[in-house]
Amino acid sequence: MPDGGKEPERRDESPGGAPAAAHPGAVDQIFAVPRATAGDFRFGAETAAVFDDMVSRSVPFYGEIQRMACELAADFAVPGSALYDFGCATGTTLVALDSLIDRDVRFVGIDNSDEMLAKARQKLAAAESGRHIDLVNADLNGAAAVDDASVALLLLTLQFVRPLHRDRLIRQIAAGTRENGALIMIEKITGAHTMLNRLFIKHYYDYKRVNGYSDLEISQKREALENVLIPYHYEENREMLVEAGFRHVERFFTWYNFCGIVAVK
Ligand SMILES: C[S@@+](CC[C@H](N)C(=O)[O-])C[C@H]1O[C@@H](n2cnc3c(N)ncnc32)[C@H](O)[C@@H]1O
Repeated sequence: MPDGGKEPERRDESPGGAPAAAHPGAVDQIFAVPRATAGDFRFGAETAAVFDDMVSRSVPFYGEIQRMACELAADFAVPGSALYDFGCATGTTLVALDSLIDRDVRFVGIDNSDEMLAKARQKLAAAESGRHIDLVNADLNGAAAVDDASVALLLLTLQFVRPLHRDRLIRQIAAGTRENGALIMIEKITGAHTMLNRLFIKHYYDYKRVNGYSDLEISQKREALENVLIPYHYEENREMLVEAGFRHVERFFTWYNFCGIVAVK
């Protein structure tokens, strides 16, 4: 057991986090023991096994952002079209959307982690959805096939796509989205002002501490994410969306260095 045999505290409800019941799987202790070398963060088997706990303790207001993204998705979903969840991970968003959206909307979940997709398959099977849902292994750093979407979701995922490929991905999503369709994004962002950005990051690490992560876990994960999670400024994201052809771009959520954006074509 890491950290002197002490079990990490599990809170019933974390500030701004999802209730514990929302992530009943294994507890995230991936970075709890000292590592010889940081190594790049990966979404493989180790992460997939604890992902739901990890994300709800690491992303402020995760449950509420998911709820907002889903209600916005329901506003734009049109029967006969498709809804894409890029970076669908363990299927949390698709499961929540299933009860909100007409059966005649085709769901497509895309991720490049087989282990995440296997978890998503399990969760969707347990939800006993009668809907046809395609779960596809594809790398968003390559070409993305998007066809007749009324809704595209990119939740906490564009930040992991290499900057070199982001413009192209957003343009492909725009091209495959119907007029009046929407792209809904959640991203970690970099603040425009250096001193404020530093404060926002400090408060973010305070948030993780409150949610039971140790200083060792926080610093080792920060190192592992250094070259993997690359946040843009809000304005860079906005410009990319406008240039790709989205007419209306609005923030629907902001918490220090996290941002929810809805873009309408
Ligand atoms: C932080 S998780 C977000 C999961 C989910 N959207 C949510 O809101 O909980 C990012 C997901 O994107 C996937 N991902 C990262 N880079 C990717 C890429 N280049 N192509 C496809 N999926 C990718 C990861 O495997 C992971 O499941």
